[in-house]
Amino acid sequence: MKPGMSLSKHYLQFRDFRAEEYAYLFERAAIIKKRFKNYEKYTPLVDRTLAMIFEKASTRTRVSFEAGMYQMGGSVVNLTTTDSQLGRAEPVEDTARVISRMVDIVMIRTFEQTKLETFAANSRVPVINGLTNEYHPCQILADVFTCIEQRGTMEGKIVAWVGDGNNMAATWLQAADILGFTLHVSTPGGYEVDAAAAGVKRSDCFRIFRDPLDACRNADVVTTDVWTSMGYEDESAERMKAFADWCVDREMMAAAHPDALFMHCLPAHRGEEVEAEVIDGPQSVVWDEAENRMHVQKALMEYLVLGRIG
Ligand code: CP
Ligand code: NVA
Repeated sequence: MKPGMSLSKHYLQFRDFRAEEYAYLFERAAIIKKRFKNYEKYTPLVDRTLAMIFEKASTRTRVSFEAGMYQMGGSVVNLTTTDSQLGRAEPVEDTARVISRMVDIVMIRTFEQTKLETFAANSRVPVINGLTNEYHPCQILADVFTCIEQRGTMEGKIVAWVGDGNNMAATWLQAADILGFTLHVSTPGGYEVDAAAAGVKRSDCFRIFRDPLDACRNADVVTTDVWTSMGYEDESAERMKAFADWCVDREMMAAAHPDALFMHCLPAHRGEEVEAEVIDGPQSVVWDEAENRMHVQKALMEYLVLGRIG
C-alpha cells in the first residue's frame, strides 16, 4: 500500500459488507429507530463531523444524512461541485486528503464509481456511497430493512425489478447475491443490468424476464425507478419510448403475491414508471422506505466510525 493510502473501512457498494454485517446493521437500525420514535436522546457521535459532497441533486440523501448526524450529536459540512474547488478541477485525490484530515466520515454522491473509489483510496476516514452511476447501496440498505420490518426476513423472497438496469437494479442484484433472495429482472432491450460488472457470484440469485408481467408473478416485492437517472437526461426522449411498457400498474401488482409490497426509491414520476394507483395504493411502502434511509444510515455511520457497539 502506498504511503497515505486509506486503511479505513468504506461503504462503496453493497458487496462491501457480508451477510453477517448486514444482520448486525439491521438490528442496530431497529434499536436506533425505536429510540428516535420514543424521543430518546442517543448521541454516540458527539464531536464527530460528517462531510457530504453532492455532485448531483438530492432531497432524501441530504436530509437523512444531515438530520441523522445531528441527532447522533455530530455536525455536518455540506459541499457541492459548484461551491467547492472540485468544480474548478482540484484533483479528487487532493480533495480527499484535505477533507479527511478534518472530518470523521464522508458521504459522496457523484457520477463515476471510480471517482468515489479514488476518493476512498486517499481518505483517512470512512467513505460512504450516497449514489453513483453504478450503485446506490444506502437505498437498498433502507429497502431491505423495510422489507424485514414488514415481512420478517428477506431469505427466500422474490423481488421483481421492472425498468431500467441502472444503479438501483445493480445494487438489488448484489443484495440478492449476499442476502439469499431472488431478483426477477425485466428491462427493455438495451437497458439490461450487468450481473458480471456487479460481481454477482450466485448465478441463481436472479432471473431475467422479457415481459415485466412475468417478472412480477408471485413476487413478494415489486419495485422500479425512474426511466432516466441523473446524468442521462440527454437520453430522456428515447427512453420514454423504450420504457413505455415498463410502467408498474395494477395488473402487475395483481400478478404478484397478494401481500406484495410496492417499493420505489423516489423521486417518482406517476404515469411513467408507476401508476398513481400503485404508488399511492395500499401495497405501497414508499414513505416508510424513505424514512428508513435515516435510521439505517445512522446505524451505518455508527458502525463505520465506532465499530460494533456492545
Ligand atoms: N432516493 C434518493 O436517493 O433520493 P434523493 O435523490 O432525493 O437523495
Ligand atoms: N436511479 C436514480 C435514483 C435516484 C435516487 C438516479 O440515479 O437518478
